[in-house]
Amino acid sequence: MNNSMKNQSTAAEELENSYRLPEIVRQRKQTLKKLSLKSGEHVLDIGCGVGFLSYEMAVKTGDSGKVIGIDKNPEMIRHSINRCKDLHNTEFMEIEAGSLPFPENNFDAVCCTQVLLYVKDVLQVLAEIRRVLKPAGRIVIVETDWRGVVLNSAFDSLTRKIFSAWDAAVPSPNLPVYLGPLLKKYGFSSIQVEPVPILNTEYSSNQFSHGMMKWITKNALKKGVITDTECRKWLDDLEEKGKTGSYFFCVNRFLFTAVLA
Ligand SMILES: C[S@@+](CC[C@H](N)C(=O)[O-])C[C@H]1O[C@@H](n2cnc3c(N)ncnc32)[C@H](O)[C@@H]1O
Repeated sequence: MNNSMKNQSTAAEELENSYRLPEIVRQRKQTLKKLSLKSGEHVLDIGCGVGFLSYEMAVKTGDSGKVIGIDKNPEMIRHSINRCKDLHNTEFMEIEAGSLPFPENNFDAVCCTQVLLYVKDVLQVLAEIRRVLKPAGRIVIVETDWRGVVLNSAFDSLTRKIFSAWDAAVPSPNLPVYLGPLLKKYGFSSIQVEPVPILNTEYSSNQFSHGMMKWITKNALKKGVITDTECRKWLDDLEEKGKTGSYFFCVNRFLFTAVLA
C-alpha cells in the first residue's frame, strides 16, 4: 500500500469512529429532519464519507427511492458500499464533487455535509448542484466555522499557531459566514440556517473534540509550525484540564437549507 492509499484508508477509519460519536449522531438527526425526505425520492449525497447519512436517507426514501453517494476517496466508497450492502436503493461512486456525471433535473434533494470546506472551487460545486437538482429541489449543507473555536488552553500563542495551521490547510475554514449570499446568487431561495453546536466539557475519546484536537495538532506538526515538544505540551495541558474538570471546547456547525427557485 503506498502512502496516498494509506492516508485514504486512515481517513476512512477515523471517520468511522468519529462520526459515531453522540454530537455527530445528533447532527445527522437534525440534518435528516430538515431534509424531510419522502418515499420514492432521489437524493444525492456529495462527499458521502463512510455512508452514515446515505444509509439513513436510503431507509427514508425506501425501495422506490434512491440514494447516490459520491466521494473522491475510494476507501470512503468501500466503507459506504459495505454499510449499505443490505439496502437495494443505494449506489456509490468515486467522483469529484465539481464534476457530476448526472443529467440535469435529476434529484429531488442534494445533501453535502462537512465537505465544502475541503473543496477548492465551492462555486463550481454549487453550479453542479443547481444543474442536477429538479426545479424546487432541496439542498442541505452543513459546514463548520473553524474560526469560531472556543477552547480553554494554558497556551494561547500555541493555540493560535495550531488553529492558524488548520485554517491554512483547508480552502474554506469559515464558509458558513458567507454561504447564505452564495446560495442566493446560485438561484436558491427559502434559505434557512440553524446552528449545530458541538460543546465538549470532557476530554475523552467519546467526545468529538478529543480526536479533532489530535488531528489538528498532527496537521500543525506536519506543516512544521510547532515542534514535537510543543505538541506534547499543548495536548498534555488539555489532558490535565480533562482530569481536573476544566476542559472546555465549543465550535459551531451550521445547517443550511434552501430550495431551487
Ligand atoms: C468530513 S467527511 C464528511 C462525510 C459525510 N458527508 C458525513 O457528514 O458523514 C468529508 C468527505 O468529503 C470528501 N471530499 C472532500 N473533498 C471532496 C471532493 N472534492 N469531491 C468529493 N468528495 C470530497 C472526503 O473524501 C470525505 O469523505
